[in-house]
Amino acid sequence: MSDDGLLDEHHYDLTRTRQWLEGEGGAGRDGRARRDLLRSLVVAGGAAARHWTDRAPVRAAGPAAAEPGPIVKPLPPDLFIAHGTNAEMRWEAMKGKGLLVPNDRFFVRNHTRTPLIDARTWRLRLHGTGLRGAPPAGRAVEFGYEDLLALPAETMTVAVECAGNGRSFYGTQQGTPAEGTPWRLGGVGVARWRGVRLATVLERAGLAETAVDVLPRGLDPNFVTGGVDLGPVRRPLPVAKALDDVLLAYEMNGEPLPPDHGFPVRLVVPGWIGVSSVKWVGEIEVADRPLFSPWNTRFYRLFGPDHPPEGGPPLAEQVVKSAFELPWDATVRAGRPVVLTGRSWSPHGPVRRVEVSTDGGATWRTARLRGPERGWRRWETTWRPDRPGPTALLARATDASGATQPDRAVFNTYGYLFGAVVRHPVLVA
Ligand code: MTE
Repeated sequence: MSDDGLLDEHHYDLTRTRQWLEGEGGAGRDGRARRDLLRSLVVAGGAAARHWTDRAPVRAAGPAAAEPGPIVKPLPPDLFIAHGTNAEMRWEAMKGKGLLVPNDRFFVRNHTRTPLIDARTWRLRLHGTGLRGAPPAGRAVEFGYEDLLALPAETMTVAVECAGNGRSFYGTQQGTPAEGTPWRLGGVGVARWRGVRLATVLERAGLAETAVDVLPRGLDPNFVTGGVDLGPVRRPLPVAKALDDVLLAYEMNGEPLPPDHGFPVRLVVPGWIGVSSVKWVGEIEVADRPLFSPWNTRFYRLFGPDHPPEGGPPLAEQVVKSAFELPWDATVRAGRPVVLTGRSWSPHGPVRRVEVSTDGGATWRTARLRGPERGWRRWETTWRPDRPGPTALLARATDASGATQPDRAVFNTYGYLFGAVVRHPVLVA
C-alpha cells in the first residue's frame, strides 16, 4: 500500500463510484440514493467549476495570507504521522498526559482542506420539510455564532474516531490490504467539547413531529473524486439520535474550536463514527423522510466477500480498541522494568478489563485500570523484559457489554472498524 493516503483514497473512491454507478451494489434499498447521485452527477458534471467557486472557503478578514495547506496547525513529526490531507496522532505523544488529547496533537481528518471561516459572517441555516409550518420546499431559520453562544451550553467529554482507524492492520497483520488512508491507531482523540445541544437548536427552529432525518453539511470545499463532484461533506442522522446527545460544539478543551477541528461550529456525535461529527457546519436540512448522501450510501458501509453484495447497513457505531502509548518499533532495555501504559475504548459502555501480552500473545496478564473513564480508559502494567530480540506487545480490552477484541477483524474493502488486537512491534536490546 502506498504511503500517500490521498492517492489511495482517490483510487478507491473512483473505483467504488464506478461500481456503484454501474449498479454493482444491486438495486435494493440503495436504488433511490443511486438515482439521486446520478442526478447530482449530471448537474455537477456541467457545473463543477461554478460549484467550487460557490463553496470556496470564507477567508478571515485581514492581510492576504498565503494559501494554507490542507491542515492549518503545525504537524511536528514527534506528534503526527502525516497522511495527505489527514494527520494521525502518534500514540507516544499521549504518554504522561491526562484524559484529554491536547488540541496541538489531536488527529485531523479532512476530505479536502480546512476552510478559514469568519465567525462574524457565519450562519447556521436550518431548513426542510421537517420544520413546523414548512411550505413544501421548507422554511429556513438562521442562527449566528453569537446566537448559539447565548443558548444554554453543555459540556461533554467524548471521543471522535475515524471509522478507518486501524485500517493499515488489515494489510500488515492480516495480509488483506484495504485501500484508503493507512491509519495505525492514531485516528482517534478524546476532547472536552462545549456547545449547544442540537436538540435545543432543532426545537427553537420548530422541529415538526413528522421529522425523520437531519442532514448537516460542511462548509469545506466540495469533495471531488475521480473528476466527480460529490458536493460538501454531509451525512444524515436520525432525529432520535439528533435529539438524544448530539452537540453543536464551539469549544474544544476550553478554547474556541481550532480551524482544523471545525471552527466556528461542528457536530459532535457521541459513539458514532467520526464522519458523523461534521465540521464547519453551515446548514442542516431537517426532513420528514429518510435522507441520503454518498457518506451513508457509498462510503461508511461494509463491502467485501463477507458482506452483502449491496453492502452492509450504514455504519453507526465503532468497535472496542486498545493502544499502547509507545513509539512503533520502540526499543526497551533488557533486565529493566518498564511501565507500559495505554488506553482502551468502546462505544458500548465502560471498559471492564484490559489484558496485556508481552510475548506475542502466548501469555496474558491483567493491566491496572487508571482514572475515570470518559471517552476511554487509561491502564498500565509493569514489564521486565529479559530476552533480547524482537517481540510484539498486545492489548485486549473487554467492555461492560462483554464485547472483547477478537484476534482477527472481518475484512471489508474500505478497511473500516478494525477492532482486532493489534501487534505492536518492540525490540528488547
Ligand atoms: N466534516 C467536514 N465538513 N469535512 C470533513 O472532511 N471529516 C470527518 C468529520 N467531519 C470531515 C468532517 C471525519 S471522516 C472525521 S473522522 C472527523 O471529522 C475528524 O475530526 P477531526 O479532524 O476534528 O479529528
